[in-house]
Amino acid sequence: MSHIPVLLDEILAAILPTSGETYIDGTFGAGGYSAAILQSASCKLIGLDRDPRVRPHAERLAAEFGEKFSFVRTEFSKLDQVTNNVPVDGVVLDIGVSSMQLDEDIRGFSFMRDGPLDMRMPSAGPSASDAVKYMSRNDLERIFKVYGEERRARRCADFIVRVREEKPIETTGALANILASALGQSGKRHPATRVFQALRIFINDELGELVRGLLAAERILKPGGRLVVVSFHSLEDRIVKSFLRRRSGEVKGGSRYLPPQAANENQPSFILQKRAGTGAGKDELGANPRARSARLRTGVRTNAKPWPQDDNLLANIPGLDVLEELIP
Ligand SMILES: C[S@@+](CC[C@H](N)C(=O)[O-])C[C@H]1O[C@@H](n2cnc3c(N)ncnc32)[C@H](O)[C@@H]1O
Repeated sequence: MSHIPVLLDEILAAILPTSGETYIDGTFGAGGYSAAILQSASCKLIGLDRDPRVRPHAERLAAEFGEKFSFVRTEFSKLDQVTNNVPVDGVVLDIGVSSMQLDEDIRGFSFMRDGPLDMRMPSAGPSASDAVKYMSRNDLERIFKVYGEERRARRCADFIVRVREEKPIETTGALANILASALGQSGKRHPATRVFQALRIFINDELGELVRGLLAAERILKPGGRLVVVSFHSLEDRIVKSFLRRRSGEVKGGSRYLPPQAANENQPSFILQKRAGTGAGKDELGANPRARSARLRTGVRTNAKPWPQDDNLLANIPGLDVLEELIP
């Protein structure tokens, strides 16, 4: 299935494509947002994606828009490096997996399709089967709890550890069956949903990427520049909401996801555009079920300097470095 861009009208209304301006699409995917922005005004756009398989879509846009469009295969956390710190007028992020990624059995993102237990967006680094093979029961439990919000994380980790002592768990189908026997079927969702989400977020360091991407956008946006983020589950949306509310001076306190700040020495670096996140309307939901959980949030950059940051993010959750050390 080709990827249908979510909340496209709302994205355009938030980014406000204007002739002569430059934008970054940090999650290029099939190029739906990028193409719509480039069609709306005589502007420039740099598309970023960490997945090498989006290249044909980038080539299509390069042929259509010439010099106005360029593509860099990289993480969006590095978006300020891509422009060599030259400021831009807008950054858009559409977080998460694309329909193309979910639909390819071989990528191992989906419990609906049997394939190797992989889940890597960049096709390099540790995979989900490495996590399931090498991580301790306690670390697996924490990952399932924090990244999947799985209430029975302990039971899932126990079942995995028991099975892997007998045989390796190498396919999405095998893991989905183990989780189905651990949790049973209750409700509409497949019992593997939360653990698969947790492994995908962990393997791709999605929340770390998101936080670093927001901080990079704060550094690179011009005064008046727009930061527009679409997220698909509450963990991501909470990070975006908390970042924009704090940076706009609405919230003075701390967040468990964001670095502590020195007592309010910082001037608001963003103006929050709408208090509540915007979701998809009825028509869009009918045409694209993936839009169901989409939330859009927008901030407009002020001329205040970026807030100081530290690297203390998500510090008590096992990171990929822990897994890398375990792989022989
Ligand atoms: C939901 S899709 C984007 C779809 C796009 N808006 C469109 O209209 O076609 C998300 C894309 O972002 C990419 N991605 C996710 N996290 C990323 C990151 N940290 N850095 C760069 N690309 C990332 C994925 O590989 C995927 O192709």
